[in-house]
Amino acid sequence: MLKGKQILLIVGGGIAAYKALDLVRRLRERGAGVLGVMTPAARQFITPLSLASLTGGKVHEELFSLTDEAEMGHIELSRAADLVVVAPATADLIAKAANGLANDLASTLLLATDKKVLMAPAMNLRMWLHPATCRNVETLTQDGVLFVGPGEGEMACGEFGPGRLSEPLDIVAAIETALRKDTRIPLPQGSLFGKRVVVTSGPTHEPIDPVRYIANRSSGRQGHAIARAASAAGAQVVLVSGPVAIVDPPGVDTRHVETAREMLAEVEAAMPADIFIAAAAVADWRTEAAGASKMKKGAAGAPDLRLVENPDILAAIGRRTAERPRIVVGFAAETDDLLANARAKLARKACDLIVANDVGEGTGVMGGLRNQVHLVDAVGTESWPSLDKEEVARRIVARLAALIGEQSSGGPRS
Ligand code: C5P
Repeated sequence: MLKGKQILLIVGGGIAAYKALDLVRRLRERGAGVLGVMTPAARQFITPLSLASLTGGKVHEELFSLTDEAEMGHIELSRAADLVVVAPATADLIAKAANGLANDLASTLLLATDKKVLMAPAMNLRMWLHPATCRNVETLTQDGVLFVGPGEGEMACGEFGPGRLSEPLDIVAAIETALRKDTRIPLPQGSLFGKRVVVTSGPTHEPIDPVRYIANRSSGRQGHAIARAASAAGAQVVLVSGPVAIVDPPGVDTRHVETAREMLAEVEAAMPADIFIAAAAVADWRTEAAGASKMKKGAAGAPDLRLVENPDILAAIGRRTAERPRIVVGFAAETDDLLANARAKLARKACDLIVANDVGEGTGVMGGLRNQVHLVDAVGTESWPSLDKEEVARRIVARLAALIGEQSSGGPRS
């Protein structure tokens, strides 16, 4: 499969650059030729000589090299190969490529090539999760650039998370897939790259007067964790959050609201989306008319608070006829008849999936760190053990990514 193929390998500057040497060895073992290009930063990690010894040819480093240009101009170099591979693809190289910069040899080759490009990112996890990098990866994905990884694990900087360069053999497998005619590299498992996800989270506050409001015990932890997990899976995420005491997830476009009506307006404004997840504990009722000034105690006794129903955000989105998200997910926090109520909610609010949890006294779910959920869809019910809310979020996101993948590939639910 790789025999006789030419790979133009651009090595970016990062601690993972040493793995590029192993990648060259694996490619050559399989009969591929490798043209090596290094960025100036890559020289801080590996030497041009070590790369040249493994590729068995010249390593190109400079844009304006008189000898190189005389032998093979950069335009020619960018097109001489069957595939361009960037490994490690640093945040800087990704940013340059996404913005069409061409101020050094590597970025010029990426702009000038007419071949498919496969990037294997490697960077610190905060750099990977930064909104700028997410935006750049999304732009490149839309441009047809293929990605492999990054993997998760402990990183050279001591942090743990996504950002590790994929293993050389995984990159080889991705190269083989990219070279196969008319095929695209399947997105990494659990990926939501290029997808837009809107999540609601937290409680809503419904004013009674300027100082008092109706609220509930929702902390926003589960909704925020879902937004974070969706963003880590590559989605472009809008989080519409009620008043919470936790921080905005990095890389997520977070919009703060107070009331159910404000939440509905922000959700509507964030549409269209591929996935909508209503994790907020929206107040079912608000006062009919919030007082403009503080209510006073007096001889008249307790005020007669008249309540009216709030709009149901989930049902409004689930029942949309135009631009309904492909997947609509609701939550059912119940204290009684959990599964029966969840099933009824699935139909009533036109959802594709309900995440049901028991919030009865003693469960510690509302405001707590753990959650025990049941997933209810048209097919049946699946119960998960009690898990950290972050883990529940990751699993929900993985499931949604699989579901949306099935839909796009004309799978069973499309
Ligand atoms: O009917 P119930 O409040 O139990 O439904 C819970 C689900 O509906 C949650 O997903 C919640 O976010 C959503 N919901 C909503 N707007 C409301 C009430 C609930 O989006 N006004």
